[in-house]
Amino acid sequence: MFINCSETKTDQLYRLLIGSVVPRPIAWVSSVNDDGINNLAPFSFFNIFSVKPPMLGFAPGYKRPAAGSSLPVAKDTLVNVRACGEFVVNVVSQSLVEQMNQSSGEFENDISEFAVTGLTPQASTMIKPPRVAEALISMECKVFHIHELGGSALVLGEILCLHYADGVIGTDGLVDLDVLQPIGRLGGISYSTVKDRFDIERPTH
Ligand SMILES: Cc1cc2nc3c(=O)[nH]c(=O)nc-3n(C[C@H](O)[C@H](O)[C@H](O)COP(=O)(O)O)c2cc1C
Repeated sequence: MFINCSETKTDQLYRLLIGSVVPRPIAWVSSVNDDGINNLAPFSFFNIFSVKPPMLGFAPGYKRPAAGSSLPVAKDTLVNVRACGEFVVNVVSQSLVEQMNQSSGEFENDISEFAVTGLTPQASTMIKPPRVAEALISMECKVFHIHELGGSALVLGEILCLHYADGVIGTDGLVDLDVLQPIGRLGGISYSTVKDRFDIERPTH
């Protein structure tokens, strides 16, 4: 089958794309609004892009327009990172998947997903938005650039510092995936674990 993107409906293209680029890591982004209310939401259009400087990116979109309106409204996370210039990316372990899913509900911006999920906002070290105390890895970021894409925006953030829970970094200095138990997002409402792994040597030239 051949798909010409410019002739394909957005909904269908969305379903195809999120089933084609898999598994995707999930940025569980905590941010804070102008009134000091903490926000938390997952974004799987996410990855790291540079180590020096340490840089990551994620793409929050726009909410479905309210009935009778055609005006796009940015998701709370996008509003917050634009205004505050800072955010935290927390890693979702398997034990936190229910809370992650709950936090993806479209709550009004005066409702904190920390309260909805019962998760603990832990003060960050270098920035204003809190991190998720229960997450085993958190990355404090400051906005480097926000590139408007139309239906969403690509937020590039410089990682200022990293928090690892005890035991997550093994004696070999690597992240222990058996401790972290990260999950990835697939198409539809499916997720994957990283239990089935293999190593492969890189070519020597
Ligand atoms: C696993 C997962 C991944 C998601 N990835 C994205 C994404 O990459 N971009 C996006 O705009 N919404 C994504 N969503 C939907 C948002 O989490 C959802 O719209 C949320 O309500 C946004 O919250 P906010 O308005 O507080 O920012 C995802 C949802 C889930 C459950």
